[in-house]
Amino acid sequence: METLFKTEPLTRAMEAIVAAGGSEPREARLVAENLVTANVLGHDSHGIGMIPRYIDAVLEGGLAPNQHPKATVDAGALLALDGRKGYGQAIGRDAMLMAIERAKRLGSCIMTLGNVHHLGRIGHWAEMAVAEGLVAIHFVNVISHARVAPYGGRDARFGTNPCCIGVPLAGEPPFILDYATSAVAQGKLRVAHNKGEKVPPGRLIDSEGHPTNDPRYAVIPPYGAMLPFGEHKGYGMAIACELLGGALTGGGTWHYEESSKQRVMNGMLAVLIDPARLGTAAAFEHETRLFLDWLRKSRPAPGFDRVRIAGEPEREMRAQRSRDGIAVDATTWAEIQRAADNVKLPRARLATLLAG
Ligand SMILES: NC(=O)c1ccc[n+]([C@@H]2O[C@H](COP(=O)([O-])OP(=O)(O)OC[C@H]3O[C@@H](n4cnc5c(N)ncnc54)[C@H](O)[C@@H]3O)[C@@H](O)[C@H]2O)c1
Repeated sequence: METLFKTEPLTRAMEAIVAAGGSEPREARLVAENLVTANVLGHDSHGIGMIPRYIDAVLEGGLAPNQHPKATVDAGALLALDGRKGYGQAIGRDAMLMAIERAKRLGSCIMTLGNVHHLGRIGHWAEMAVAEGLVAIHFVNVISHARVAPYGGRDARFGTNPCCIGVPLAGEPPFILDYATSAVAQGKLRVAHNKGEKVPPGRLIDSEGHPTNDPRYAVIPPYGAMLPFGEHKGYGMAIACELLGGALTGGGTWHYEESSKQRVMNGMLAVLIDPARLGTAAAFEHETRLFLDWLRKSRPAPGFDRVRIAGEPEREMRAQRSRDGIAVDATTWAEIQRAADNVKLPRARLATLLAG
């Protein structure tokens, strides 16, 4: 069973839970808005279903409310930041604002952000940069549970390590390529498990290394492993995320036996480029236009209505969900209510906020 929620009351309810967990109003609002936006864009894996995990992490001490990034290097176009175990939604925003300011002033910025709690949808950060006319490239590692097997391996050795590329486009909304390097995001398997759905082949192996379509192997013990997307190619990108997002940022790589901790730490390398400063602005605009027009003339394959570019599916989903509301399954909602209980937010208060 699912319940439909409108964006604003749902945001206020999530904000109240995060605030009851100890966050100041600005942070609570940023966390709630970021998660609800992920739902609105169709990425339920990175939406409000993360709240129970965040609250558990706060209560365990693995996630520290009300932090600000600390610059360990601030040398022109090089910026190294420590996220101080803070909420990724607040720290990520502060970090991106600093990097954007430097990229606009200097033409580019290479920013590392280590030791930050879950940054949510990485596309959120690319969107901030492209809104300022910048190109954004992100490599991110995840320290939470090892869930993805290396190409040629049978047990999980690293996380779902996302990468993202955002490019501003003249005359239309940006290209936002944003995905996990696992064949499917961990949160999507949690959502499938909660909904009692199977997953398509090629995504998962069970605890003995055999292919399976049962999402339980990604959600409850005995764990199997997710597979990287695109065999050795996606696997290589996942390693790049670990080396650049984990090692280069100083935030740390995954090299532990299983952890029972609820925190989800991220490390992110972000490279921002101002295309106007490379002297190719006119060609960039012209060639982009020619290529996209050419691309979109491709005849749709069976089962498709047209060719899209990355970012379009999310914008279509935004239009639909802003209008119709966000459907939340009963298991996810029960977990969110328990998170509210854990921070002593009365369910009646939650109900009042949701009622608008
Ligand atoms: N913070 C973390 O630790 C973490 C870890 C893993 C994933 N994530 C996030 O999870 C989210 C979901 O990841 P995912 O791997 O499930 O994404 P996904 O498989 O849904 O792929 C999404 C990407 O593919 C593009 N796309 C989808 N359909 C398309 C089509 N028909 N034509 C062209 N492009 C299309 C989308 O625009 C988007 O860029 C991402 O936002 C990612 O950043 C975060």
